[in-house]
Amino acid sequence: MCGITAAVGADDAVSTLLTGLQNLEYRGYDSAGVAVANGDGVEVVKREGQVDDLEALLSRRPLVGRVGLGHTRWSTHGAPTNANAHPHTDCYGDLAVVHNGIIENHATLRERLQSAGHTFTSETDTEVVPHLVEEYLDSGASVETAFRLAVDDLSGSYAVALVHEDEEAVYAAREGSPLVFGRGTEAYHLASDVPAFLEFTDDVVYLEDGDVIRVTPSSYEITDTEGSPVERPIESIDWNSEDVEKGAFDHYMRKEIDEQPTAIAQAVRGRTDGGAVALESLPDGAFADVDRVQFVACGTSYHAALYGAQLLRDRGVPARAFLASEYAMTAPPTEAGTVLVGVTQSGETADTLAALRRGASEGLRTLAVTNVVGSTAARECDAAVLIRAGPEIGVAATKTFSSQVATLTLLAERIRRDVRGDHSDSAPALLSALDRLPDDVESVLSETRAPSFARRYDDSDAYFFVGRGTAHPVALEGALKLKEISYEHAEGFPAGELKHGPLALVTPSTPVFAVCTGAHTEKLLGSIEEVSARGAPVVAVAPRSEKSVAEVADDVLWVPETHPELVGLLANVQLQLLSYHTATLLDRPVDKPRNLAKSVTVE
Ligand code: G6P
Repeated sequence: MCGITAAVGADDAVSTLLTGLQNLEYRGYDSAGVAVANGDGVEVVKREGQVDDLEALLSRRPLVGRVGLGHTRWSTHGAPTNANAHPHTDCYGDLAVVHNGIIENHATLRERLQSAGHTFTSETDTEVVPHLVEEYLDSGASVETAFRLAVDDLSGSYAVALVHEDEEAVYAAREGSPLVFGRGTEAYHLASDVPAFLEFTDDVVYLEDGDVIRVTPSSYEITDTEGSPVERPIESIDWNSEDVEKGAFDHYMRKEIDEQPTAIAQAVRGRTDGGAVALESLPDGAFADVDRVQFVACGTSYHAALYGAQLLRDRGVPARAFLASEYAMTAPPTEAGTVLVGVTQSGETADTLAALRRGASEGLRTLAVTNVVGSTAARECDAAVLIRAGPEIGVAATKTFSSQVATLTLLAERIRRDVRGDHSDSAPALLSALDRLPDDVESVLSETRAPSFARRYDDSDAYFFVGRGTAHPVALEGALKLKEISYEHAEGFPAGELKHGPLALVTPSTPVFAVCTGAHTEKLLGSIEEVSARGAPVVAVAPRSEKSVAEVADDVLWVPETHPELVGLLANVQLQLLSYHTATLLDRPVDKPRNLAKSVTVE
């Protein structure tokens, strides 16, 4: 959802900015641009296309300077064209601006500025910002004051940064969209997300809404909306730059699928001591007064939330997962004793934040389950539990789903214990299965037959995925992954629902992947018989002990034996591999699927 970056004091600002943009490209890849203030004015190079296309253009039209801005775009206002690409400038070309978010009052501001004689060259909401700054500069304000006044005029969400030809400095502000400062030794950095500058520094400052920062090659100052200095702590990030490199892999997605054993081990490490679940931010008994749990999430995280809700219901704790965008519109009636859990990899998804804020405004206690330590969700919720997956760059979420499910399994067990006041008899078996899970995922990765299934079915009309219980969210996730990266039609259903409609779509050209966890197997067998009778090929995804499934399905993607509540996670790894290999056979841009972005920071 657009990535912004800035470099201040770098010997070659453009190469630093390009590194940042490559690392932020998961946020959008419709168009990209940079602006450099080099003492001789502000120069902008931008174009439709990906960061590689921008880099090629810059090799023909090099820009030199120590201070600059960069942007990679996911279009909201205006098509992905050269003119709509950021940075945007004022009428004189004295200053340049990049922006992430949505300026809700842009139409009114544009009308006002156009009547005052300003000429606009794009259809974006962002372009009002440079013209507003110009207006204030023309009336005699300093660059800093003009920037502050312009930002005050905006409503909506933004992280916005500016360079002006008169100063070796970057000004930036945030309200509702993420912005982090990186304190490097060679240069200072600003970006929408930490991976942009991990190669240069681990020391970061998470800016807060209302903050304005001025960065020069030798100093930085953070102030509030009134201009008074504010202190923000410098935090050290434990991610490293290899985490955001592809290494020997063709795609980030493939690398991140392979990283799952490590990611899961990190999620579980130190949290299962002595047969009980310890979650660092939550003291014993933290959930003692909880009567019910509501989850809010989007996309893949919503599927993890459905999985988590099922685990809680299986423990007798009322729980339900909601799509965040719907919850934010019509929250269910609130009841005392409800804890609202936002599941969000990035911690920045606007729909999820809106749902959490809605719940908090109704008095609900909130908890973020997230991958990003200083994210908005982590900071705004009453507490946060980290999934510790490390950075995920591929737009299609893979390792973070597994880490979310592992973390939600711990959370479910913990809530159950706090609510009931005792350990469940089944907890030790589950917790030791969680400890073994990294090895089980390793077996799936080394023994998978997913590539041959991808080849067998790569010219299918559609793909269906079915499951019951915890296998239902896995079926939904299997379908989402396949459609996101292969553009093939794929749907996931609760297996029992097939006969109530979707069965009409089943033909010999629609393979059905049936996820079997070992619970409700007889009922799943019935669903498999129903689709087989209509000629559809059926591939079961099941643990080896489920022999009866192998007898009725045409083929099986096996997963290792584990606790029934964790089989779905292993089955999902098989389905990730199926999607990945299908997409590569079809020559799709796996890491950057069309029209999508990893972090969607608008509602
Ligand atoms: C976008 C991404 C999905 C992701 C969803 C939620 O739609 O394309 O892959 O699952 O956002 O993101 P979050 O960061 O909140 O988990």
